[in-house]
Amino acid sequence: MKDKKSKLAIFGGMPVLRRALKTPYLIGRKEVAVATKILKEGPLSDFIGAPGKYFLGGKHVRSLEAAFVKKFGVKYAVSFNSATTALHAAIVALGIGPGDEVIVPPYTMSATPMAVLMNGAVPIFVDLDPNTFCLDVVAAEKAITKRTKAILAVNLFGQAVDFDKLLPLAKKYNLKIIEDNAQAPGALWGNRLTGTIGDIGVFSFNVHKTIQAGEGGVLVTNSEHYALRAQMCRNHGENLAAQYPEAGPLIGSNYRMTELAAALCEVQLSRLDFLTKKRRSLVAYLTESLKGIEGISTPSVFQGNYHVYYVYPLLIDEKKLGISRDRLVDAMTAEGYPMSKGYVEPLYLLPVFQKRQVFNETHFPFDYQGMKQNYEKGICPVAERLYEKEFTHTMICQHPRTKKDIALFVKALKKVLAHKGKLQ
Ligand SMILES: Cc1ncc(COP(=O)(O)O)c(C=O)c1O
Repeated sequence: MKDKKSKLAIFGGMPVLRRALKTPYLIGRKEVAVATKILKEGPLSDFIGAPGKYFLGGKHVRSLEAAFVKKFGVKYAVSFNSATTALHAAIVALGIGPGDEVIVPPYTMSATPMAVLMNGAVPIFVDLDPNTFCLDVVAAEKAITKRTKAILAVNLFGQAVDFDKLLPLAKKYNLKIIEDNAQAPGALWGNRLTGTIGDIGVFSFNVHKTIQAGEGGVLVTNSEHYALRAQMCRNHGENLAAQYPEAGPLIGSNYRMTELAAALCEVQLSRLDFLTKKRRSLVAYLTESLKGIEGISTPSVFQGNYHVYYVYPLLIDEKKLGISRDRLVDAMTAEGYPMSKGYVEPLYLLPVFQKRQVFNETHFPFDYQGMKQNYEKGICPVAERLYEKEFTHTMICQHPRTKKDIALFVKALKKVLAHKGKLQ
């Protein structure tokens, strides 16, 4: 028995975790009550894509937007059926289109650069800060051309991008800032909430996020003009062109959030501070427990940032650790604690960029007006290194997990490292 316990699970030993980890599922009594009421009474959605009082949706959608305005101290909040559609609306709101470039990081969810492409503009990838994993703002300056209209910065894994540098840079070159804040609701840069620092910020409520409603997103801004264009993009805005000529050219879509999702989101929003505090306390415990393990670096927090740890990121130094990142991840997964091999493959390596093909056989928008861009392997060495061998993360700090779960995670890690000779 002792033998079986000490043998690594990857070689047939007993895993440290012999039950399934509780999946982060956050729906409580309040959500069930509000959802039941809406299901019984309807309507499930209260939008009409035409001028009139239903253009802005029903009471739960409006109530969620009002709650966002209050919580985040912004003038306008516009709900969407996902952060992906909200990101597209942000590009539309800013009037970014064919002939324009937008600077984006390559280490993010694909929705970030796709929002740019969807409106016929071109993403330009810039490498990461190796410690925070957010955009390297110094490198971003070198990528600015006369076509650059905006920087789409991602507050990755729950931490603000380097706004100390980003804000002056945007001012110097008259660029807009969109914050992809899908992973960082409640994070702070100094005393400012992320998502509210740029011209537009976007939040996500998909099923993996800190607060969730299955699917959903919200766009926040202090600009009436951007809010109007976002609302028109969300709900067939072409039908309101005569009513709002000041909005300028655009076509809309159906990016509308249902009443059910909005009501769920609003309850979830009231849980955000609790969830953030709990995660941060588990993170502090995990970081303390990992101290002194050679070859594994715990998360770096930029000075002045309040990190909300959507995931718990770890950097691996394979030489110091004595085994590869991938062997470590395989062994930990076998012990019951799945970890990631990198995050995403740097996005410029996707076929859409390698082939420069979005619309059938054409190369639009990549070749529009003689545009040129470099998507070759090697352009963002930090992102490539992280993906290939240095980065891993765990979701072990998410609610409803507890200190006991963290202690077992650390036990599994120590077990794996005690047997690393067998893993080489
Ligand atoms: C950084 C980032 N941006 C955008 C998205 C897209 O969010 P959604 O699934 O709500 O469309 C995600 C979701 O994983 C994300 O992590």
